[in-house]
Amino acid sequence: MNFLSIVILLLVLVAACFALFKLLSSRRKPHCEGCSQCEGCPGVRKQLLLLLLAFSLPAGQLFASNLLYGPWVHNVDEHGFTVLWVSEKPSLDYVEIAPDDGTPFEAMARERIYETSYGRRFFGRFHCVRVESLAPGTTYRYRLVGQTVEDDSNPYRIVYGPRRLISSKKISYSVKTLNAAADTCRFSVFNDIHFKNKRFTALAAPIDPAKTDFILLNGDIVSYAQSLDTVAKYSIQPIAAQAAKLPLFFARGNHESRGRAAYGVHSLFPTPTGEFWYSFRQGPAAFIVLDAGEDKPDSSHEYAGMADFDRYRERETRWLETALQDPSFVSAPVKICIVHIPTLATKASWYSQRWITEHWAPLLEKAGVDLMLSAHHHKWMCVEAGQDGKNYPVLVNSNMERMDVMVTADGIEVKTYDTEGQLCHRWSK
Ligand SMILES: [Fe+2]
Repeated sequence: MNFLSIVILLLVLVAACFALFKLLSSRRKPHCEGCSQCEGCPGVRKQLLLLLLAFSLPAGQLFASNLLYGPWVHNVDEHGFTVLWVSEKPSLDYVEIAPDDGTPFEAMARERIYETSYGRRFFGRFHCVRVESLAPGTTYRYRLVGQTVEDDSNPYRIVYGPRRLISSKKISYSVKTLNAAADTCRFSVFNDIHFKNKRFTALAAPIDPAKTDFILLNGDIVSYAQSLDTVAKYSIQPIAAQAAKLPLFFARGNHESRGRAAYGVHSLFPTPTGEFWYSFRQGPAAFIVLDAGEDKPDSSHEYAGMADFDRYRERETRWLETALQDPSFVSAPVKICIVHIPTLATKASWYSQRWITEHWAPLLEKAGVDLMLSAHHHKWMCVEAGQDGKNYPVLVNSNMERMDVMVTADGIEVKTYDTEGQLCHRWSK
């Protein structure tokens, strides 16, 4: 539907409202007996208001964006990234890409990239478009365009809504590809937010996209995944302003493995391995991201018979042994392991923390890991190398603080801040 059609429709609606107004004004209701000014009657005014509302809602929907959550970028590497978003209605959307050269999107025909499934373009509510063949360390702008699918009952005559821009005109969406040759790696970490979206937004507000390479979500951003809409709403929307400029990396927490929609969480945070364990490199830092699974034994009554994490971690261990020998990881001046539950051997440790300390810590030690960044305990913890028998330090970020990390070839600096922007903890190596 073009703009002229919309204007005509609005004129028709206004005319209809006016006609109904006259009709209602001429009628005398039982409760109006004796009243000489029917137009001013509260009963009539209420009916008129409801009618105007009923007519204006469909008209408003014509202009409403179909974008519900996002967009956000995951699975970024030196040559590509994946854009994800959730639309309110099923839609056939695509990503338009432009270089960061200051030209308007309308300056020329931009590359359009659709999500496809076995050669057929995808339409639905959860969108995931892979952009490839990019240059390392380069900023790209993108925007989303699409049209709702109103009726697909006839395979040869799909009925679409109007095609329009669905990403915000006021927000400039961009992402910078990773670059192994960069001098620094700078990122911010959030964990254990557990649906506290106001705290999440407050902690993220001071992030400067110009001085940050990515945001790391280190697990338990939600307490369970009963629907993917809820996961997107609480994991992305509170930091939408930052997600518009920075890619995300996601490390699953034990809570994100709970709930009927837990099977689909990976589709919101796709990885190069297709698993919640993967590796990536930015500047001098190489990262190994791991998933410790649930925290208690698989037999725990809390898991309602659904947990099978021992076998999951065993399979992950076999991958870890190989990943630690990858040249990109071996050659990195700084090696960091990300995992929601830390490898800490204490008397108070629960089952999976003991398991990964026994099985993963020796591998990480041998590979020369410089630092482990963890979460789960809802408080700041700093266990230096050698303090609990391991040769690498473990930092656990509080659920109330944002962790900012700066890595150079010469060292690592970690600072944490609360919602007021106050520096809480500092660590360097
Ligand atoms: Fe946790």
